[in-house]
Amino acid sequence: MIPKMLWVACCGLLLWSCKPSQIHEEIVTELMSPNGQLKLEANVDTKGQAFYRVLYKNEVVIDSSKMSFELEDAAPLKTGFQIVSTHISTVDETWEQPWGEDQKVRNHHNQLMLKLRESGEKPRELHIVFRLFDDGVGFRYEFPEQPHLKEVLIADEYTEFNLTEDYKTFWQPGDWDTYEHLYQETALSTINATTLRDHPNVASTYIPHNAVNTPVTMVGKDGLHLSFHEAALVDYAGMTLAVDTTNYDLTSKLVGSANTTYKVKRELPFHTPWRSIQMTDNAADLIASHLILNLNEPNKLGDVSWFKPMKYTGVWWEMHLNKSSWDYGMTRDENNQWIDSGKAHGRHGATTAHVKDMIDFAADNNLKGVLVEGWNTGWENWIGFEDREGVFDFVTPYPDYNIKEVVAYGKEKGVDIIMHHETSAATETYEKQQDTAYSLMKEMGMHTVKTGYVGKILPKGEYHHGQYMVNQYNQAVEKAAGYQVAINAHEPIKATGLRRTYPNTISREGLRGQEFNAWATDGGNPPEHLSIVAFTRMLAGPIDFTPGIVNIKFDEYKKENQVNTTLAHQLALYVAIYSPIQMAADLPEHYNARPDALQFIKEVGIDWKQTRVLDGAVGDHVTIAREEKLTGNWFLGSITDEQAREVKVNLDFLEESAQYEARMYLDAADAHWDENPTALTTEFKTVTSKDELYLNLAPGGGAAISFIKK
Ligand code: NOJ
Ligand code: CA
Repeated sequence: MIPKMLWVACCGLLLWSCKPSQIHEEIVTELMSPNGQLKLEANVDTKGQAFYRVLYKNEVVIDSSKMSFELEDAAPLKTGFQIVSTHISTVDETWEQPWGEDQKVRNHHNQLMLKLRESGEKPRELHIVFRLFDDGVGFRYEFPEQPHLKEVLIADEYTEFNLTEDYKTFWQPGDWDTYEHLYQETALSTINATTLRDHPNVASTYIPHNAVNTPVTMVGKDGLHLSFHEAALVDYAGMTLAVDTTNYDLTSKLVGSANTTYKVKRELPFHTPWRSIQMTDNAADLIASHLILNLNEPNKLGDVSWFKPMKYTGVWWEMHLNKSSWDYGMTRDENNQWIDSGKAHGRHGATTAHVKDMIDFAADNNLKGVLVEGWNTGWENWIGFEDREGVFDFVTPYPDYNIKEVVAYGKEKGVDIIMHHETSAATETYEKQQDTAYSLMKEMGMHTVKTGYVGKILPKGEYHHGQYMVNQYNQAVEKAAGYQVAINAHEPIKATGLRRTYPNTISREGLRGQEFNAWATDGGNPPEHLSIVAFTRMLAGPIDFTPGIVNIKFDEYKKENQVNTTLAHQLALYVAIYSPIQMAADLPEHYNARPDALQFIKEVGIDWKQTRVLDGAVGDHVTIAREEKLTGNWFLGSITDEQAREVKVNLDFLEESAQYEARMYLDAADAHWDENPTALTTEFKTVTSKDELYLNLAPGGGAAISFIKK
């Protein structure tokens, strides 16, 4: 390393001596995090190629890792660079979220910007900006306006992350079309993503390389925790990480398109998303980290108080259980027009009468929203059809659903109807219809829509995670904001912290959700699923997992399927998994049969002042407590994998001099995710911040606690 430093120092001197009129600034190639524990070295090597290294507590975590771009119709941006200048700055600010895990977020980092210029006749420029936080690093490439480069067609970006040990890795394949794979736990050196091709239960999938999707989380031998992801993914392709299993190296591999030979097309000036590496001493701090949010731009929408965090229920699980259907049974005539064939099959879920019943159930149980899926025409032809453009129109209800009547009834009861737009990945149709669809919502005073992108993307050749779709998802959010509409996307692009900039980006799927338990042919989500998700997918942002299934085996509907957790675990998810909208996903009749469990769902908070991640181990267990904004009540969720365990909880997060009624919803002594999943006991007692609790979690179990201020 030292010779390289010397070389650059000389280089800087050389530049300075070549241009005596320019004010010489010292070239800086090192940066520390605010607490001094993280160190970055960034420079160009003897060939003039940019590289960086990261040390944590004096240990090399990311060894010299190169950075370059392969361009179409132009020489690569790779070697021949010199550092023209470097700039250092510091930010220490606290900003507020309209909703989130914590109301106040501290953004404290040191920044180093390297300005690089090629030598030669028509030199091109590239800037690299690094930000060091106490809990990790973010860096991005900036392509400034310049004379010899106006537009780039990026064939690929080569950002290396050269690791120094064979980390225990929690990963899912670098699928260009879905994040709905189970997480795998293996050594970095044994990752083989291509064996996960052709999963029977995903609607679209493409895994071209031995690569992983992000966030990918790793645990080192000495307890160092790393998670790789990206922040502020805007007008660029999603990044997967190709794995070199021999050298423990990761290299960015952008998601492409079958329609172009390049992966990203941009006019200058522009910058890439941030490449982020969270680094912490323990698992809990990964969840507590706000690095991804802090790398995003501040709120561009201003006041978004028209969106209120809420618990909701819906006409949803019943379709996944096959109790009712999305479609009504209509057909098309010879002109391809929908006709009421008079052959309604009578199993349609979204009827006016049924939705009114759901509104009543919601109003009785402190649920402020009802999602209605299958309300609009088109569901007869939505999945598996090649020609899906024009199938859905997002304003035409089936004849048995009176949208106005239902919305008005909801308003009377203080319950909002959550709109549903299943685009079936027919993006041109959705784009054309957005204004009309969001206008209808505005007219009716509806502020939340769940969107869906099931199936292969149309136009053909595009993938869910490529630049074309990144723009589709982002433009939908921006357009919806104009109509005071918030979006919860399913089959989305991954969350990258854009909720800070566009706080109408409220939640999303982007993982194997609860629905897989209703119909997956591979046994559903295993008991450990959410103990991995909390430390991987959840680092990216809010998750619409749709928790709260209380009829765990649902044998009446599906003998072959079940939820693979206890009932207490399902309740704990309202706290352990973060989203500003949380579904009470089960059927009203199932809740009515379990008033004990329903009571927790009714009382649990949804809008938080602060969050404490109390304990956890990636893939094993996690315990989180959150304080409700308006009441000062606290709620706790603790979940475990297939192992039973005792979790000790120190209640020192509670307000010091206050007394709380602890209402504990616990696994019964003989509870077990498979053998006895619904065995729940409740215990109520008075506690203070001086107390400790010992929670016994069953195999696949959990604990949910409300601390109600006395
Ligand atoms: C997949 C979504 O994840 C699910 O929640 C929804 O019910 C179906 N698509 C239909 O849109
Ligand atoms: Ca889905």
